[in-house]
Amino acid sequence: MSRPKISVIGAGNVGASAAFRAAELELGDVVLVDIVEGMPQGKALDLNQMCPVSGKDVRFTGTNSYDDTANSDVVIITSGIPRKPGMSRDDLISTNTKIVKEVTEQVAKHSPNAILILVTNPLDAMVYVAHKVSGFPRERVMGMAGVLDSARFRTFISMELDVSVENIHAFVLGGHGDSMVPLARYTTVAGIPIPDLISQDRIESLIDRTRKGGAEIVGLLKTGSAFYAPGVSAVEMAESILRDKRKILPCCVLADGEFGIENTFVGLPVKLGTNGVEEIIKIELTDKEKEELHISAGQVKELCDLIDGMGIV
Ligand code: APR
Repeated sequence: MSRPKISVIGAGNVGASAAFRAAELELGDVVLVDIVEGMPQGKALDLNQMCPVSGKDVRFTGTNSYDDTANSDVVIITSGIPRKPGMSRDDLISTNTKIVKEVTEQVAKHSPNAILILVTNPLDAMVYVAHKVSGFPRERVMGMAGVLDSARFRTFISMELDVSVENIHAFVLGGHGDSMVPLARYTTVAGIPIPDLISQDRIESLIDRTRKGGAEIVGLLKTGSAFYAPGVSAVEMAESILRDKRKILPCCVLADGEFGIENTFVGLPVKLGTNGVEEIIKIELTDKEKEELHISAGQVKELCDLIDGMGIV
């Protein structure tokens, strides 16, 4: 039996971090693709030379050609450009839509049975683009945002209570942006809901920091955005799929009536296994949580309408 094949499109910061994590988990062989010549080849060689030391049997290939990605099981798409000073949101959307469209066409052609995990921002809208361009069923096209947003929330709770990160489970639903919906009631420390452990005021402040988690890092780095946590988060999804672990994770998926949301990509609780999205888990939401989720989904819908209006896909 051959090893699973994971292609990572975009060998930049997030792509390289994802590749590194895939090796740590010995998840399969990894193909790194980028438009920059030499760079993915160089990173792949470096990663190959890491493996004897870490004792992992993983083969890395760096390439500028999609031929090398043929028959991938999972494809993680990170290619895109970051928002630069002076660039409007619409310019960013149009550029990344073109990149994700071009990449997805190639990926779908060479790996028609692959499961796609999008990371490129604006996340939910890019999942929409990849779904539309690939023609893949909704079970096989998803986005990484909720795992990262939940990880940020878990980190801040762990710091607040000085407890192990392993004790903390958190659920952040909705779109990847200011309108994300952290669910305090479903966030627990060793099974204890956080409202029993942290005052409402402090919870609000941790939620606020979570919402601004990406921007906080951009403000510090100045020349780029977060990459370690995003790379590892995408690989947690890939692992659940490739090892059929059936983890329940918050992922961006196409809602088709779930939670009363129609035909919109948004972060929901999803069981991930061999087939990709095995199930969207229905949980009870309060009226306020439902309203917040609908507002968040509405914002994604607006972005997708904007993309439709651009006539790119
Ligand atoms: N095909 C393949 N690779 C491409 C293409 C393309 N058409 N266009 C750009 N790339 C590559 C770039 O050459 C670069 O190496 O995508 C890579 C992006 O890497 P970085 O600039 O380091 O960005 P990174 O921090 O990895 O973020 C990637 O993930 O979290 C999101 O907002 C973030 O959208 C961004 C994405």
